[in-house]
Amino acid sequence: MVAAAAALALALAALPLAASAETVLGVYIFHRHGDRTAKSTPPTYLTALGAEQVHASGAYYRGRYVAANATSRIQALSPDVAVLSQLAVTAPVDSVLQNSASVFAQGLYPPAGDAARQTLADGTVAEAPLGGYQYVPVNGIATAASSASSEDSEWLQGGSGCGNAVVSSNAYFASRQYLDTLAGTADFYRRLLPVVNRTFSESQLSFKNGYTIFDLINVARIHNSTIQSADLVTDDVFHQLATRADQHEWGLAFNASEPVRAIAGSVLAAQVLQTLNATLQAPATRAATTRMGIQFGAYGTFMAFFGLAQLPAVSDDFTGVCGYASSMVFELVTNATTATTDAASPVDPADVSVRFLFSNGSASAGHEPVAYPLFGRRETLLPWKTFADEMSKFAVGDTLDWCKACGNTTGVCAAAAAAGGSGSGAGSASASGSDGEGMSRPVAGVIGALVTLAVILGIEALVMLVGGLRLVKKSVAARGKAAEAGHA
Ligand SMILES: *[C@@H]1O[C@H](CO)[C@@H](O)[C@H](O)[C@H]1NC(C)=O
Ligand SMILES: *[C@@H]1O[C@H](CO)[C@@H](O)[C@H](O)[C@H]1NC(C)=O
Ligand SMILES: *[C@@H]1O[C@H](CO)[C@@H](O)[C@H](O)[C@H]1NC(C)=O
Ligand SMILES: *[C@@H]1O[C@H](CO)[C@@H](O)[C@H](O)[C@H]1NC(C)=O
Ligand SMILES: *[C@@H]1O[C@H](CO)[C@@H](O)[C@H](O)[C@H]1NC(C)=O
Ligand SMILES: *[C@@H]1O[C@H](CO)[C@@H](O)[C@H](O)[C@H]1NC(C)=O
Ligand SMILES: *[C@@H]1O[C@H](CO)[C@@H](O)[C@H](O)[C@H]1NC(C)=O
Ligand SMILES: *[C@@H]1O[C@H](CO)[C@@H](O)[C@H](O)[C@H]1NC(C)=O
Repeated sequence: MVAAAAALALALAALPLAASAETVLGVYIFHRHGDRTAKSTPPTYLTALGAEQVHASGAYYRGRYVAANATSRIQALSPDVAVLSQLAVTAPVDSVLQNSASVFAQGLYPPAGDAARQTLADGTVAEAPLGGYQYVPVNGIATAASSASSEDSEWLQGGSGCGNAVVSSNAYFASRQYLDTLAGTADFYRRLLPVVNRTFSESQLSFKNGYTIFDLINVARIHNSTIQSADLVTDDVFHQLATRADQHEWGLAFNASEPVRAIAGSVLAAQVLQTLNATLQAPATRAATTRMGIQFGAYGTFMAFFGLAQLPAVSDDFTGVCGYASSMVFELVTNATTATTDAASPVDPADVSVRFLFSNGSASAGHEPVAYPLFGRRETLLPWKTFADEMSKFAVGDTLDWCKACGNTTGVCAAAAAAGGSGSGAGSASASGSDGEGMSRPVAGVIGALVTLAVILGIEALVMLVGGLRLVKKSVAARGKAAEAGHA
């Protein structure tokens, strides 16, 4: 009895110690842009409110992972002055998403002031402009036929360039579920004509345009632009509009029987795996390791990933369009003491786990991201191996795999097939990361994303291919240089 009580007391005493021992090795954050103007009034742009939202989110993650007093500080990450080799920030070439990523980085690493001052040979002190503003590059993922504007695209699959995914999403418009809703909501949408007749014609006013109609009215409500016949948009009507938009976009983004419809989620899964794996393979306390992968993208990618990761099993809410500046986070964590003491070797993957968190809307101290269990499981903390195995079931990270899944054979896919046959190309680009060089894998990931997210027509395909090859060459060249320097 006494012994049991003593053991319990011991266990309790040990708890806080053990809890505080958890080390975050790295994270991958996938983020939605902030508030923007309506898709039906292109070009879209990030509003002041939107910038505020993503900045607040960046500041929240700074307090969680980056700052010297962060609550879950990432191992070996520079707290005040951004070290670019530790960060991999990407966004499609789209002004809303690129700007969101830049502003987020400002929240993550605000102007460094004194910390960024440098004393020169002649004794003068130099400080970067704007109080030591930090320039974190956002690497573009070229996208969409409409050069720089994936957020202008009304059609969810518009930027994927994946043949079979487009066909699958289109099949939604022939499904019973869609046709029933289309018929059942015809009157509801037609009654809204006086509200949106400057933008939509009567024939366009149906569930077929369920998302863009909602989007237009939602933006108008947020920005208090004059809404014609505003009395028609009661709270009930607005709720119906939002719910129908969710249903419409979910139908286009995911279908359990046709995983290719969720190709965006498959590509994201591969990028998350590659980036976290590169962090995991690197020596535990090495400074020049990518420790934060940050990608900005569209709600459609959230939905596709949610579907593939079986999150609707946790809550139906995951079938809804997530709010502006929403984020999902994959934390690579361990309780192994070698994580903080051993500078030379990686942490044993058997001691490492992954935690998934999601914040619907801008994360903040009052609205923290919540941990959810993935893959229809119960635990929110999964051993690395389990996580990697489950993600690999649907991840598509290789150009050849992507071409196969999408049924594409021309352009980039013809080149990849030729290169794959001769044993070089995409495969070797990712294999080159096996030496634990922090940058190699994210670069390989970007190449995959380049290929995957782009709608490539004719010349664009050529440009992209050349760009992709150049990236590979560069990283190989850089490594060669590093090796030379090592010998010198
Ligand atoms: C960390 O430090 C900053 C600035 O010194 C402060 O504003 C913030 O409240 C601190 N956070 C915690 C969790 O103590
Ligand atoms: C894939 O095929 C589809 C349909 O043929 C085409 O529209 C799309 O541009 C192709 N994508 C790429 C990257 O070649
Ligand atoms: C999902 O895919 C199945 C099989 O292809 C198809 O029968 C069904 O109509 C699809 N559902 C939707 C909502 O697209
Ligand atoms: C839109 O509807 C309103 C109200 O019925 C009407 O006054 C206006 O003339 C219409 N505008 C257009 C462009 O049809
Ligand atoms: C919103 O717009 C209406 C009409 O233009 C105006 O009367 C009202 O004051 C505005 N509300 C705010 C909060 O600015
Ligand atoms: C996020 O919020 C939106 C709008 O409030 C809702 O429709 C959606 O279901 C929510 N998603 C999750 C995962 O909570
Ligand atoms: C580390 O230990 C604490 C306390 O036992 C536990 O809550 C946490 O989940 C552990 N983390 C990992 C990654 O095992
Ligand atoms: C992680 O990287 C190692 C070394 O390159 C490789 O052997 C392993 O298959 C990778 N794991 C995953 C899940 O990609």
